[in-house]
Amino acid sequence: MYYLNKTKEELINELQESQQELISIMALSGNDISKYDITFLNKSLQKRITETHCSADGEYYSLLELNNNERDLFADSLHNSYNEFFRNPLTFAVLERIILPSLLLKKKTSKNKEIRIWSAACAAGQEAYSTAMLVEELRNGNDKKLNYRIFATDQCDLQVNEARKGIYSAAALNNLNLKRVKQWFTKHGDTYTIKPELQEHIDFSVFDLFSEHLSAPPASIFGDFDLVICANLLFYYKPEFQKVIIEKVGKCLANNGYLVVGETERDILMKHNYIEVFQQSGIFQKLARG
Ligand SMILES: C[S@@+](CC[C@H](N)C(=O)[O-])C[C@H]1O[C@@H](n2cnc3c(N)ncnc32)[C@H](O)[C@@H]1O
Repeated sequence: MYYLNKTKEELINELQESQQELISIMALSGNDISKYDITFLNKSLQKRITETHCSADGEYYSLLELNNNERDLFADSLHNSYNEFFRNPLTFAVLERIILPSLLLKKKTSKNKEIRIWSAACAAGQEAYSTAMLVEELRNGNDKKLNYRIFATDQCDLQVNEARKGIYSAAALNNLNLKRVKQWFTKHGDTYTIKPELQEHIDFSVFDLFSEHLSAPPASIFGDFDLVICANLLFYYKPEFQKVIIEKVGKCLANNGYLVVGETERDILMKHNYIEVFQQSGIFQKLARG
């Protein structure tokens, strides 16, 4: 009933004021949550309110203010690191059949024979390893002289450590066919470890896409990536911060380079002067400015 008497603008203003309070409380423990999207923050907030059995925002804010541990739990609830091998099948099919073969062909006739890839929010590494499998498989039937390097980064050091280890449960391998499991993993008891010959092409490091000092992963030295995968993180942020990330990865793209986003993030790129190279694939190129 309360909501029925309010205009949409009034409700948004209330939400923004309430979130300002939440942002200030979280800053007490050094957590900057001001970049997060308003709807995402509200959903996470409502979830914690239910889990802590608080009756309303106000009661939960008092708990947060007094309780360090709850502030840590709320901050954790904002970190989603869900990842799968070959997560979006259409994206990876287009990479396998169209984008990577054409890049390999292009590099074959170019002076610079290295394909450069950046997995910009790699979580526990599945995205980078999936891409490496594709390049390796295509290279085998093609030209071994072509080199490739994948720079895989994430803001979370725990995720980057997991990615470096490359150890996965059987359940994590669900999207992989048996041939790939045999070719790219070694089984140890109940777990599967990525083989070193795949790992050696990937450089894992911690990198925050909001870093004001660094424009690309330092290990890559100069960026110039043929392919950047920046998937399933844009939607957590407010539009002005999505823009910061898109501009940062866009500046690191080589001429005619490709930018990959998650399937629910395609609209965001379309608003930023990018064109999807294959419908629904989430694979984009920058529109040349007229
Ligand atoms: C849901 S996972 C997506 C993993 C993978 N890219 C995929 O599409 O499945 C989101 C990842 O983005 C990372 N992330 C969020 N904000 C980031 C930032 N500002 N800089 C770097 N990584 C970030 C998180 O740590 C998390 O591992």
